[in-house]
Amino acid sequence: MTEPAEGRNGHAIDTLHSLEFRIEGVHVAFGDNKVLRGIDLEIASGEVIAIVGGSGSGKTVLLNTMLGLLTPDSGRVWVADHANAAGALVSLDKLGEEDRDHLHSHWGVVFQRNALFSGSVFENIALWLREVRDLQNADIRPLARSVLEAVDLPSDDAFLETSTGSLSGGMAKRLAVARALAMDPIVIFYDEPTSGLDPISAAHIQDLIQTAHSDRGRGRPTRTSVIVTHDKDLLSRLEPRVIMLHEGHILFDGPFADFHASDSPVIRPYFELMPTYHLRGAPG
Ligand SMILES: Nc1ncnc2c1ncn2[C@@H]1O[C@H](COP(=O)(O)OP(=O)(O)OP(=O)(O)O)[C@@H](O)[C@H]1O
Ligand SMILES: [Mg+2]
Repeated sequence: MTEPAEGRNGHAIDTLHSLEFRIEGVHVAFGDNKVLRGIDLEIASGEVIAIVGGSGSGKTVLLNTMLGLLTPDSGRVWVADHANAAGALVSLDKLGEEDRDHLHSHWGVVFQRNALFSGSVFENIALWLREVRDLQNADIRPLARSVLEAVDLPSDDAFLETSTGSLSGGMAKRLAVARALAMDPIVIFYDEPTSGLDPISAAHIQDLIQTAHSDRGRGRPTRTSVIVTHDKDLLSRLEPRVIMLHEGHILFDGPFADFHASDSPVIRPYFELMPTYHLRGAPG
């Protein structure tokens, strides 16, 4: 694989490969806690990637590093800049605030704790659209209704004005997905989208993730989905490329079928103990 050439402003240009991310030698430590100890990873456009690993293995830290919310102690994260038709990879640490905002307009994120604001359902969907997309309420309202319908939530005025504090865990999760989808993102990130949900809600979110991955219209860049998960059903359903973090390194990187079949003394017990939701397909 060729190295990206330095382009204008020290940004790299890579016209040969349709990469969404290139992570090079990333180290992150908190004091003595060396969480990521040299992560190298390339993610191509259109891939479905599942990041797995034990609690505390650094999945959220890796995700936050990819999002530019956390600056690595060393190493670099390159991301595709979709403002550029050639799909140039740009280094996150070289981007100014404006460039970062632009990048974020192509991303949708479902955070581990949903990260809903305390206001209404409508405000939660509207805020980023107003800030990042410059949309007015009149344009946001129909969009809000359509994404709420996509995640099977009510879309009437009363629901739009409902306070997020009164939603159940499953509804809040669906709203977080709806809010991410409203951005029509090229890359969508989910951090444990099904954890803490009952089996039927979890199955519903699994379906949503699958649909959301493939629902972009023709002639537009394909969507890339990056999912941090402990959900074995989600893996079986999506059959993603699996990345397993262990002791600061990538212990496994390959197709789900190989992960499933692995007899590694680390992977096997982890896989066996991953939660599964037996009620998949049950009515509801
Ligand atoms: N801001 C922070 N300050 C100090 N330590 C942190 C911080 N963020 C994460 N850590 C530590 O980094 C390690 C990895 O955390 P991370 O949240 O990435 O785990 P995870 O793999 O996402 O786990 P889980 O499955 O429980 O969500 C943990 O030991 C955590 O305590
Ligand atoms: Mg986490």
